[in-house]
Amino acid sequence: HLCAAESISVGPHLLLLLINGLLKTFRAAVYEHAVILPDETDVPVSQDDAVRLMNKNMDILETAIKQAAEQGAHIIVTSEDALYGWKLSPFLSFPLSFPFPFPSPFLSPFLSPFLFGHTPVQARLSCLARNNSIYVVANIGDKKRCNSRNSICPPNGYYQYNTNVVYDADGKLVARYHKYHLYSEPQFDVPKEPQLVTFNTTFGKFGIFTCFDILFHDPAITLVKDFQVDTILFPTAWMNVLPLLTAIEFHSAWAMGMGVNLLAANAHHVNLKMTGSGIYAPDSPKVYHYDMKTDSGRILLSDMASHPRLSPTYPAAANWSAYATTIKPFPVQKTTFGGFISRDEFNFTQLFENAGNLTVCQKELCCHLSYRMLEKEENEVYVLGAFAGLHGRRRREYWQVCTMLKCRTANLTTCGQPVETASTRFEMFSLSGTFGTEYVFPEVLLSEIHLSPGKFEVLKDGRLVNKNGSSGPILTVSLFGRWYAMDALYKSRGTSNSAMIYLLMITSLMTVTLYNVVMV
Ligand SMILES: *[C@@H]1O[C@H](CO)[C@@H](O)[C@H](O)[C@H]1NC(C)=O
Ligand SMILES: *[C@@H]1O[C@H](CO)[C@@H](O)[C@H](O)[C@H]1NC(C)=O
Ligand SMILES: *[C@@H]1O[C@H](CO)[C@@H](O)[C@H](O)[C@H]1NC(C)=O
Ligand SMILES: *[C@@H]1O[C@H](CO)[C@@H](O)[C@H](O)[C@H]1NC(C)=O
Ligand SMILES: *[C@@H]1O[C@H](CO)[C@@H](O)[C@H](O)[C@H]1NC(C)=O
Ligand SMILES: *[C@@H]1O[C@H](CO)[C@@H](O)[C@H](O)[C@H]1NC(C)=O
Ligand SMILES: *[C@@H]1O[C@H](CO)[C@@H](O)[C@H](O)[C@H]1NC(C)=O
Repeated sequence: HLCAAESISVGPHLLLLLINGLLKTFRAAVYEHAVILPDETDVPVSQDDAVRLMNKNMDILETAIKQAAEQGAHIIVTSEDALYGWKLSPFLSFPLSFPFPFPSPFLSPFLSPFLFGHTPVQARLSCLARNNSIYVVANIGDKKRCNSRNSICPPNGYYQYNTNVVYDADGKLVARYHKYHLYSEPQFDVPKEPQLVTFNTTFGKFGIFTCFDILFHDPAITLVKDFQVDTILFPTAWMNVLPLLTAIEFHSAWAMGMGVNLLAANAHHVNLKMTGSGIYAPDSPKVYHYDMKTDSGRILLSDMASHPRLSPTYPAAANWSAYATTIKPFPVQKTTFGGFISRDEFNFTQLFENAGNLTVCQKELCCHLSYRMLEKEENEVYVLGAFAGLHGRRRREYWQVCTMLKCRTANLTTCGQPVETASTRFEMFSLSGTFGTEYVFPEVLLSEIHLSPGKFEVLKDGRLVNKNGSSGPILTVSLFGRWYAMDALYKSRGTSNSAMIYLLMITSLMTVTLYNVVMV
C-alpha cells in the first residue's frame, strides 16, 4: 500500500510553515463529479466488486486531483457520494463502507493497513494526496462497531456513517466528519452528537460538513461563530429547487451571510437536478458552475484569502432588521394575496408599477421593497413575498423569507412556481425585512440560473441593494432567514436508521424486493 518510496516524513508542510510563514492566499479547487452508479441489484456486492466500482470513480477523481495540483491548488473538494452514489440500503452498502480511524498525527496511512485491516480505498485516497502534494477532501461510508446488545445498534454490529475525510499533502488523515442531518439516506446512521471538526493549515483554519447540514445550526453555524474557521469544505449531492434553494444561489448566499469562504462541490446528475458547484468568498462568488445540458464533471479553481476576516474587502456585519424596523412601513397594498412556494404559504403583493415602494407582511415579518425597473416587460409579472413559519411538509425548520420574484406566467396563481428565464432588468432594488434572526442569507438569482457577482451588496442596516449599475434579468432577489431557535424540536438522536430498517425487515419478513420498495 505504500505510495511513495520514502518512509514517513516530517511533513513538507510543517517545514514550509517554518520557512515561508503563513500564506495570505491559497488556491482552491472543487470537482463536480458525475458519479458512476452501481448496477441495480438485490444482492449485496462482494467487497472486491465494491472496490472495483469505487476505483472506476476514483480514476476520474484522480484526473481531477492531478489537474488541480498541476494548476497549483492547495486543496480539492470532491462531491458527496462520489464513489458509489446514493440509493443503497444499509444491507447493500455495507461492503462499500470502510472503517476510517479517528485522525491522529501518529497514524500514518502507511501504518493504518496493519491497524485497520484491508483498506484499499483509504490507501488510494491517501496516496493521491501525497503523490500530488495536495489536500484531498472525499466523501465515503465509514463503519463503526457497536454493541449489538444496545437496542439501536444494527443487528450486524456496525453503524454506518456518511463521512467526509480529509488527507493532507503528506497523505495523512487530518479530518473525519460524520454527517448529522441526513436527507433520506436509509443506509446511514445519525451520529449521537453533531461533530465539530476543524483543522489548521498554513493557509487558514478549516471546518467541514455535508449537504443538508447547511440548513441547520449545528455544526454549520457553530464552526463559523465559535470556532472562527476561515473556510468551510462542503461536499454535497444537492437537488436544485427553484426559486429559493438552487445550489449555487443558496450556497453563495450562505457564504456571504456567514462571512466565510465556502468550497462547494456538488454531484452532477441532470435527471435528479444535481448540478451547481462553486467557490464562494464572503464578498462575492469567485467562480461557479451550473450545467443541466451535459453529463460531464467539471473542475473549478480560484484563489482565495486564507483569512477572509483580515481582507480589505471583508463585508461589515449587518444588523438585518435595523433599516426595516426603523422606517415607516410603506402603505400595505389592498391587493395582497396568498400563494405557495413549494408547501409554504406566502403573502404576495404585485409590483404593478415600473417603480415603487411596497410592504408585505406575514406574522412577525414585514418585508419592504423599493425598486425601479429599467423597462417593464409586458408579459412579466413580479411580486414581493413574505413567509414566516415552519417550513415544508415536515414543519421542523423555522424560516423567515422576504423575496421579490418573477411569476412563472402572468397568471398570479403561478407566483412562486419554478421559472428559469426572465428579461426584466432593475435599475435599482432595495430589499429589507424585520427579521427576528441574525442568520439571513442574501440571494440574487438571474435568468437561466446565473449568479450576479459584484452587482449587489448588503448594507450595514440590513438592506440588500444592487450596485454597479443596472442588474441582469432577475428571477429572484431574496433574504432567506433561518431562525434556528424557533425550530420545532425533534428527536433525531438515539435512533438508528439502519437498526429501524432491519427491525422492519425482520418483523414483516419482507422480501428483498419489497424491502427495496420501502427504501426508495
Ligand atoms: C503514487 O506514486 C507511487 C510511486 O511513484 C506509485 O507507485 C503509485 O501508484 C502512486 N499512487 C497513486 C494513487 O497515485
Ligand atoms: C488551530 O490554531 C489555533 C491557533 O493558531 C488553535 O487555537 C487551535 O486549537 C488550532 N486548532 C486545531 C484543530 O489544531
Ligand atoms: C439592530 O437594529 C435595531 C434597530 O435599530 C436595534 O433595535 C437592535 O438592537 C439592533 N440589533 C443588534 C444586534 O445590534
Ligand atoms: C419610494 O420612497 C422614497 C423615499 O423613501 C421616495 O424618494 C421615492 O420617490 C419613492 N418612490 C416611489 C416610486 O414612490
Ligand atoms: C398574510 O398571511 C397570514 C398568515 O398566513 C394571513 O392570515 C393573512 O390573511 C395574510 N394577509 C393578507 C393581506 O393576505
Ligand atoms: C389562472 O390560473 C388558474 C389556475 O390554473 C385558473 O383557474 C384561472 O382561470 C387562470 N386565470 C386566468 C386569468 O387565466
Ligand atoms: C461592474 O459591472 C460591469 C459590467 O456589468 C463589470 O464589467 C464590472 O466588472 C463590474 N464592476 C465590479 C466592481 O463588479
